[in-house]
Amino acid sequence: MKALRLIAGLCAVLAVSCTDKVIEDFEHGLDSWTAQGEAFSGTTSGGDASGYIGKSYLRSTDDDAVIGILTSAPFTISQPYINLLLGGPKSNGGASVRLIVDGKEVRTATSVSDTPEVLEWMSWDVSDLAGKQASIRIEVPPARSFGSRRMPRGYILVDQITQGRKRLSNYWDEYAVTLKADRKYILIPASNSGVNSRLSVEVDGENILGNTQSARPASGQIDYYIPVNVERYAGKDVTVKLTGIKSSDAVFGAIRTSDETGNEREETYRPLVHFSPEFGWTNDPNGMVYVNGEWHLALQYNPYGTSHGNMHWGLTVSKDLIHWSDKPAIIAPDELGSIFSGSAVVDHDNTAGFGKDAVVAIYTSAGQGQRQSIAWSNDGGYNFTKYQGNPVLSDPDQRDFRDPKVNRIGDQWVMALACGQVIRFYGSKDLKEWYFLSDFGTGYGSHDGVWECPDLMKFNYGGQEKWVLFVSINPGGPNGGSITQYFIGQFDGKRFKADNLPYPLWVDSGVDNYAGVTFADAPDGRRVFMGWMSNWVYTGSTPTLAFRNSMTLPRDLSLKSNGRHTILASVPSREVYAARKSPRAVEGTSAAASYDIAQILASNKGAWEIDFTVVPDANGSFDFRLANGKGEETVWKFDLRNRKLSLDRSKSGLVDFHPSFAAKPVVVDLNPRREYKCQLFVDKLSTELFINDGDMVFTNCVFPTEVYNQFGIRADGCRVTVKDVTVYELN
Ligand code: FRU
Repeated sequence: MKALRLIAGLCAVLAVSCTDKVIEDFEHGLDSWTAQGEAFSGTTSGGDASGYIGKSYLRSTDDDAVIGILTSAPFTISQPYINLLLGGPKSNGGASVRLIVDGKEVRTATSVSDTPEVLEWMSWDVSDLAGKQASIRIEVPPARSFGSRRMPRGYILVDQITQGRKRLSNYWDEYAVTLKADRKYILIPASNSGVNSRLSVEVDGENILGNTQSARPASGQIDYYIPVNVERYAGKDVTVKLTGIKSSDAVFGAIRTSDETGNEREETYRPLVHFSPEFGWTNDPNGMVYVNGEWHLALQYNPYGTSHGNMHWGLTVSKDLIHWSDKPAIIAPDELGSIFSGSAVVDHDNTAGFGKDAVVAIYTSAGQGQRQSIAWSNDGGYNFTKYQGNPVLSDPDQRDFRDPKVNRIGDQWVMALACGQVIRFYGSKDLKEWYFLSDFGTGYGSHDGVWECPDLMKFNYGGQEKWVLFVSINPGGPNGGSITQYFIGQFDGKRFKADNLPYPLWVDSGVDNYAGVTFADAPDGRRVFMGWMSNWVYTGSTPTLAFRNSMTLPRDLSLKSNGRHTILASVPSREVYAARKSPRAVEGTSAAASYDIAQILASNKGAWEIDFTVVPDANGSFDFRLANGKGEETVWKFDLRNRKLSLDRSKSGLVDFHPSFAAKPVVVDLNPRREYKCQLFVDKLSTELFINDGDMVFTNCVFPTEVYNQFGIRADGCRVTVKDVTVYELN
């Protein structure tokens, strides 16, 4: 009796049922295994490992150069589960345990342990293999390499391979939950720091997301809920499947239905007068087009998370360019790949045969290579059908071949496409068949990064026709990361010829305005621009929760002279001024060393504008700063002697989410003027400074932990007159 109780107790301690059959416990050497290679030199006792059972376990060498395969003696599968203890680093370059039946690999397990030296249970459901002869193969393959870079392989720890009636692992290779679609959304708890998992949502056996998407289900803290709209499937069973989930993860058992998205719109850094997606990730603005009195902004969009991935075209629509209403994504990934950047046009003359005034989207299918595809909408840009003949343009020799921006020029459509280190122009009569026109770029401007997101536009400048070509580059910006350059010249329907100007010229001198382009069909022949207000260097780490990234304010573009040569001028679009509320004129100062506004707004919600003009009386320097009650501040310094403008955001608030965010001031050339007329727009996480009616625009993000509500100017080596000071709330 006593002995029986002892055995039962022992079984409990070991977490193994006494009906379990041990296939291998690694207590008696490796004699019964067949070995190839040198990766396994025998069993190991002790060491740093924990979680193994008995005295010893199996450890492969961590020498990347050594490979090995161990194969067990055959056994018969007689229980519904095979359980094994597994450790080692998660990304171990393919070191794994496999179950072999009839010479085929039917199950694989790799380490899922958060701590490599702790062995954890893995389980295979083998009920479908009952009665089969099987063997176990433990494999340590050669280290993988990417180009010239060899990936460290890591090692694997294995113990206690058993067959039993119970699943011992808390890890699910595939975790599936079936819910009734009784509300608008299915909510999946997720986190910014989570590990990537594959997500599918099935109704009647079909994945309603189209393809499998990647997601970051929450293991600990929940940062946001992924809302999957299931209205169309009301009353049906919906099965959510996620790979790689532990039962200790916050997502486990927590997927539910709801009529709300689960996410608070009003999070700390949610902009008030700039577009930011209600939920999810955005980068480039795409398919910008003015249709039926509405501004349509399609965007690079991840509907299932807050990092770059699952690229769709999202859609948001506005009547005033300030307040946006998000719509369901319009173009989803397909067998040709993810949906990368591109543009949209209104086909007024039905050249493509999709219908008069069809909105046609032209985008990059990024899969096995990059190719251009089209889709059309007959309902003013809300629902799109992909063209059956996609892709419409490919060139297998080009690796970077993307971001088509199409314009109607004369009697043809002209596509500007980023192609390696040049912009390639193609022409078309029907948006389906494209012919090569020319290449532009060799020997011009900055080639310090990949060329992306072109735009070609025409201006009337003093009665003369002038063309401007935008090219975004990443990395290679003078202050790091991504930035957009432009060229001014002529386009004759075939070729772009650049004027002789001191290139590179930048659309925006700040570090947070990228991939911006202009709307097609904007009224009154305006060129209305919006850019993505972030930088590829740190965009994946910025401290927002349920959304990531926003767009710049809309800006009207024109050409002007800066006193030395022609430049592209950006000024806030007139629609921005409609967002101004309660203007307050503030008294300036004359020939002073400093100037302060103790309180910018009595009730400051975080979106406001301050206009002011500074007239220095000598060639010194002056700075102006925004500050809050916590001592956080952002400082712009006009160094007149050295003709530089710089921005210091090292004390601006949250800065350590990425080492490059505030490590160095942002420094740019300053065009010297007698006075500096400044318009500064602040909206939660952004600052946009317009100087002297489009001479320069300087867009930079900041993340103060309390709204900035103090303003101050300090002069050094000169005195300043500050005039025309007005403060506006924006909403
Ligand atoms: C620019 C870019 C584009 C590409 C897209 C992918 O930011 O790299 O070239 O189409 O982002 O999201």
